Amino acid sequence: MTRKALSRVASISLATTTVLLWLVYDTHAANPDSNNSSNRLNHSKSSRAAFVPVNPKEGPKVNTDSSKLFYADSPDEPERTNKDDNDNNNNMRAWNCHGRNQRDLVDRMMQAKIVRTDSVQEVLNRVDRQHYAPNNAQQQSSPYMDSPQPIGLGQTISAPHMHAHVLEEIYPYLKASKTDSVKILDVGCGSGYLTAALGRWVAPQEQQGSILDSTKTGHVYGIDIYPHLVDMTTRNMQKADQDLLDQDIVSVQVSDGWKGLPEASPFDAIHVGAAAAEFPRALLQQLKVGGVLIIPVGPEGGVQNLYRVERLGDGFTQDDFRITELLGVRYVPLVQQPPPRAD
Ligand SMILES: C[S@@+](CC[C@H](N)C(=O)[O-])C[C@H]1O[C@@H](n2cnc3c(N)ncnc32)[C@H](O)[C@@H]1O
Repeated sequence: MTRKALSRVASISLATTTVLLWLVYDTHAANPDSNNSSNRLNHSKSSRAAFVPVNPKEGPKVNTDSSKLFYADSPDEPERTNKDDNDNNNNMRAWNCHGRNQRDLVDRMMQAKIVRTDSVQEVLNRVDRQHYAPNNAQQQSSPYMDSPQPIGLGQTISAPHMHAHVLEEIYPYLKASKTDSVKILDVGCGSGYLTAALGRWVAPQEQQGSILDSTKTGHVYGIDIYPHLVDMTTRNMQKADQDLLDQDIVSVQVSDGWKGLPEASPFDAIHVGAAAAEFPRALLQQLKVGGVLIIPVGPEGGVQNLYRVERLGDGFTQDDFRITELLGVRYVPLVQQPPPRAD
């Protein structure tokens, strides 16, 4: 066979393989209701219409944002290299926001342009991290340090700048929502800080509306896979944010983030506080059209990125979602099942 004929055969077989892979992948996506707990896609049905990239590497529509901030959320010391620092000034700014108290911390995050809107500034000023973060004099940890801190079970309260990022990211979507009562799902409520801040944001004010918007209020659903951490969220909120629980602005429960909370969906915003190996299909389904999902995706200990997923249409095709890579992160994993407790 001539070289020309060989290369023709090779290109035909490459094209065939590509089409087959596309069909197989498409078939995977055809049953978004699969209740397989490992979140694998169901092979049994096929439909050309249903296609959503669950693995960001396979998904064809990932935009890359200009920001390249790196954020580590593992219980260990945050890892950064000098190269990271040199690569982006945001890096330096993000990690240097330690404050003496809540207001000072928020002021520093404003100076660093991590907090950019009055609404986010106000809500962060109103929810004090001292009720949510460990305050360990021996380890010289302060609730106002701009770093993740251990809360037990190998989990962390996320760094203040990361909570601020998340609020800033979802703000435009909540503002633009057509409803006057927004619904937010916080997956991995842990210490309860972000759940409480989201609740304070949408809590009805005496005048009208909420800190978020003068015409809107809402409800926040906090879930965690560990019962102990759901209890921690409740206990921490009882210190100074009990009204959010009493007035049913925030509710917390044990639930698996891979499955979301279908009974309360669709949500205007979903935040996930742990890194998923791939985009959880259930969460994509539970997003309202016009809603947003903020989620870290990537393997445990490997390359992870924070993504913004916008739902553009009510179908389940790639055209119904826009995925944007926001920044490099290191989070603890969104576990498939909690490991058994030692006791
Ligand atoms: C880095 S911590 C963040 C906690 C919280 N956002 C905060 O700042 O305090 C990650 C959280 O995700 C929770 N988590 C891990 N896998 C989960 C899953 N499959 N479903 C629900 N929560 C999960 C952990 O228990 C933990 O509370």
